[in-house]
Formats: sequence, C-alpha cells, structure tokens
Amino acid sequence: MIFLLLFLAGIVAAAVVDLESRQSASQITTVDLSVNWGTPVHRASGVLYGVPNTKNQIPSTFYTGMGFNYLSAGGGAIHWGDGLDFWGIYHVLSNFQTARQFNAQFILKMSDLWGTDGTQGSGGVYPGANNDFVEYDAYLTQLVSDLKANGMTTNIKLLIWNEPDLTVFWNAPQAQYFATWSHAVKFLRANLPGVPIAGPALAGMPSSSNSWWTGFLTRVKADGTAPDVYTWHHEGSSTDINNDLQTSQPAMVNLLNSFGLAIGEFIIDEYANVGEQNPSSAAWWIARFERFNMSGLRGNWLSGANLQDFLSGLLWKSGSTYFANGEWQVYNYYATSMTGHRVATTGSTDRLMDNFAVVGTNIVRILVGGRLVTGTYSLQIKNLSALGLATAGTISVRTRQFSFAGTEGQEGSPTDLGLVAHTYTGNVLSFPIFQTDTVTTWAFEFNF
Ligand SMILES: *[C@@H]1O[C@H](CO)[C@@H](O)[C@H](O)[C@H]1NC(C)=O
Ligand SMILES: *[C@@H]1O[C@H](CO)[C@@H](O)[C@H](O)[C@H]1NC(C)=O
Repeated sequence: MIFLLLFLAGIVAAAVVDLESRQSASQITTVDLSVNWGTPVHRASGVLYGVPNTKNQIPSTFYTGMGFNYLSAGGGAIHWGDGLDFWGIYHVLSNFQTARQFNAQFILKMSDLWGTDGTQGSGGVYPGANNDFVEYDAYLTQLVSDLKANGMTTNIKLLIWNEPDLTVFWNAPQAQYFATWSHAVKFLRANLPGVPIAGPALAGMPSSSNSWWTGFLTRVKADGTAPDVYTWHHEGSSTDINNDLQTSQPAMVNLLNSFGLAIGEFIIDEYANVGEQNPSSAAWWIARFERFNMSGLRGNWLSGANLQDFLSGLLWKSGSTYFANGEWQVYNYYATSMTGHRVATTGSTDRLMDNFAVVGTNIVRILVGGRLVTGTYSLQIKNLSALGLATAGTISVRTRQFSFAGTEGQEGSPTDLGLVAHTYTGNVLSFPIFQTDTVTTWAFEFNF
C-alpha cells in the first residue's frame, strides 16, 4: 500500500513537471521579484454608480473592504425630463458626500445631470444646437453655484459628457459635441479654476483611425481646452484582443505625442463588460490597471433602481441585508491583503492570463486572473534571490480559491486549499494554473 501511494505520487509529480515543460510562452504569466513597482494603491477599486442616495444604506465595511477610491455618478436613470432637476442634484450631493466619507474621488457625469442619461429619447435636447449656448450657460452657471455652495470643489473631477460617440448619449452632429466640449471647458476653467476636467469618456478606444478621438484632439489642441485627465471606456468584447489597456494605453500616449499634447493622467471610468464581472476576469483587469498605473472604475450593468446600489455588481441583498458576492472577495483581498510593494509582472502573450503581485513583510502574494478562459497556464516567479532566498530549493505555496456563484450569490472569504511544496532551480519557481472554468480564480502566497 505504501509503495503504491509513493508510486502514484511519483506519477502526479511527473505529470506536473511535464505540463510545465510543455507550456508555450503564450500561456505563461510571470513575476519578477527583483523589480519594485512601488506602493500599491489598488487602482482598480473604483465604481460607476452603485451607491444609494441614503447614506450608510450599504454598511461601511463593504466600501472600505473593496478599497472604494473612485465613484462616478450624475443621476443617471433616476430623474425625469431634461435640464437640471431636483432628484439629480440630491443624488449627486449624497453620492459626493459618500465618496468624501471614504476619502474617494468623485467624478461628476455632467451630462447625466443635464438629463442625457440614455433615457432621454428622441425629445432629448443637446447643448449648442445652431451654436446657441444660452440654455447650457444657464445650466453651467447653476451647476458652478451649487458646487461652490456645497463644498464640492475638491475631491471632484468634472466629466463634461458621457460617451458622445454613442447615439444613445449624443444624438446631434459631431461638430456640435466638439463645440460643446470647448464651450464647457472655457466656462468651467473661468468659473471654477483648479477643478480638474475629465474626458472625453468615449466608448471607443483611442486610435488614430477614430474620428471622435482625432477630431477631439484637433479641437482641444487648437483652442487650449485639453482635459486635465483623459478618460475612455473598456466595455467591449472580451474576444477583441485590442479591447485591452495593453493596446489603448500606448495608443493614447502615441496620439497625444502626435498632437503635441501633454500626457498627464489616464482613467478608465467604465471597465469590464457584464460577462467579465467575475473573480477571474476582475483579477485580470486588476493586473492590467496595476501594470499601466491607471485608475479604473467598474462598469455597471444593473438597471432601474439597482443601478444606484450594490457597488456596481459586487454585492447583493436578502431583504435589506447586504452580502458580498465572490467578486467582492477578490477586491477585498486586493485592497486589504495585497500590501507591501508591487513587483513587475507580465501577462501571457495570448493576453488571456495575468497576475498582480506584491511583496509584503516576509510574504509574497500573487493574484492570478484569466479573461474568460480555460486551460492550463503557468505562473513563473523569477529572481527569488531578490528576497534573500537560495537560487534553488523548495518553497511551500498556499493557494486561496475565489469561487463565484453569480452576482446574486453570497461568498465568504477565499477557500484556503492548503500548502503544496514546489522544488525550483535557476532562481525561478514555476507551477501550473489549472483554469478549469472561466470564473474561479486564485491567489498564491509563500513566506520567505
Ligand atoms: C508604473 O509605475 C512604476 C512605479 O513608478 C514604474 O516603475 C512603471 O514603469 C510604471 N509603468 C508604466 C507602464 O508606466
Ligand atoms: C531576473 O531574472 C531574469 C531572468 O530570469 C534575469 O535575466 C535578470 O538578470 C534577473 N534580475 C536580477 C536583478 O537578478
């Protein structure tokens, strides 16, 4: 019996080694422990909407536990008719105060407050028709006065128009949008100096073949109305390999360089399509935001009253009692356990597996995540000697599993799957990631 067990263990070990050696480069995600990327500030912990009007309706532990640091809102889908209205203002003020309560930044979607939240229909009115800005100026004047009166001139970024490149949000000529942008920036810089302006919040990624981007950059370069922070969205198809910061971040840098504009900060104020709101894809997006040092706000796929609740799909409730789903647990681990310093990582060259890694006090924590993918990948951890470890030996690695029972399914802390000893040589530790479904993901930890 003992002999048989040893024999079987030998087969399992051999199988693992064999899998590792067969791994193609396209399926390896790496960590380089010798390259310090600085202190983590969990840049992907922002949300679009997801915060109720009633303060503290969602218990504070759910906010602090997911690292809540950015909120974008403007009253989307909670008010009626065009123009500045009572419910929109009430909502914005309450959301701003919740953001401030947790020391989070607030991004005001000004087009929501104007009434263009996608529900405006064919009767929707857009600023600047026939170059007439009288009504828009009245709106801007009231907005500036309300922001000042309510102490909303710090911890805030003003996002002038949401997704003007989608007809549902801008059903007027493109040139009218560029004129509106320019008009608003000049008005806001004159009347609210120092308050940062964010945009253009296009649904389409920066590209020299996208006329919304090139037209926008041409206009802002010509009249000095470039945003303080460039924003765009990543909610497209998971199979579009370019729907990825790895494409859009360098594309944005190249575009700004070609227009002779300053680079500044980039924010994705809506990220991940609805299918990507699960533990594994969340970790994949987190790895990307960390690599490119960009802040991200989760897209929001709920509707009606649910849009302004549940922290953009991280919570659900039973009666009035909120609970965390499996994706919240990933953000919780990311924001509260992944402290220390970030180290360099690379994603697999098929762009479907990635990791985020930190070195804490005597512990390394690595969160892996796949983009709706299954298969066997490999995690390769290089330069163990940077931690003072020998270049060959054995390391016991703990695995924590993040499971998912859907957005409405409650999940507790990740499951501790225990320790597995891995031998390594050449200063590199490698082991497989068995991605058997598209939503479950894992964190690997080892002490040194
Ligand atoms: C992100 O920030 C780290 C730390 O400052 C830096 O080493 C790294 O090069 C940055 N990455 C990018 C893509 O700019
Ligand atoms: C880290 O590892 C890589 C490859 O494994 C090696 O080329 C590089 O020199 C190492 N860096 C340090 C600082 O040891």
